Amino acid sequence: MTSVSVHARKATRRHYLMCRPDHFEVSYAINPWMNPDKPVDAGLALLQWESLYYLYKSLGHRVDLVNPVPGLPDMVFSANGATVVDGKVLGAKFLHTERAAEAPAHRAWFRANGFTEIHDPLYVNEGEGDFAVTDSWILAGRGFRCTPEGHQEAQEFFGRPVISLELVDPRFYHLDTALCVLDGDEVMYYPQAFSAGSRALLARLFPDALLVDQEDADVLGLNAVSDGLNVMLPEAAQKLAGQLRERGFRTHGTDLSELLKGGGSVKCCTQELRF
Ligand code: ARG
Repeated sequence: MTSVSVHARKATRRHYLMCRPDHFEVSYAINPWMNPDKPVDAGLALLQWESLYYLYKSLGHRVDLVNPVPGLPDMVFSANGATVVDGKVLGAKFLHTERAAEAPAHRAWFRANGFTEIHDPLYVNEGEGDFAVTDSWILAGRGFRCTPEGHQEAQEFFGRPVISLELVDPRFYHLDTALCVLDGDEVMYYPQAFSAGSRALLARLFPDALLVDQEDADVLGLNAVSDGLNVMLPEAAQKLAGQLRERGFRTHGTDLSELLKGGGSVKCCTQELRF
């Protein structure tokens, strides 16, 4: 017996914003993945990033580019630059001074590209790093970067229910390292990254979620992007790729090993603009 809702997958064309890793390096450490003593191959980082960029294009998605700024090595992680829902842009406000200047660079891009509703936030939020948008809710991470005040600010700005989730493991410091929206109100997540209360809440909201095990979470397998049919995810998350295919998704394993040294992978490099 097959369940149509699970197997009839359909891609919808997405609009993404990415940033070339021209200035990528690991020169400071603001998450446990980063070690400034470990060398980064800048040329390889660019090739790996380009393979993701061209994969999106080959799948028919629109990909715009925000110009990389010298001295902002983490700007390649464009997901952190803003959150766009219903064409409204909630700007970012970074916790760490090292990344602070990324926020105005992103806002300038939105202004130059015809976006008119742009909010410059009062409270810390690192864009889609901590906000994940489902059909019914905006899921929001807290504990390491975004704050409850930032969640409140997002709810007020978007007029959508924001569900606040507590992250408890420093390796999973942003929500997008621990949870990924696959389609509609369908998600996958790593339960151990969340507090007991947040785990119970997730189980209640998403009884059919794909639960990811430690092995796949440890290679940032959840830092993935789905267009409803195609799921781009770190290549090392092999078991997870199999589970996704069983659910009817097409998986595209992507090797972003150099960017992983900054603590990010597929999703971190991809901001989705929703209209
Ligand atoms: N080095 C960056 C930081 O710690 C990595 C950000 C990864 N981005 C993400 N969306 N999780 O802020």
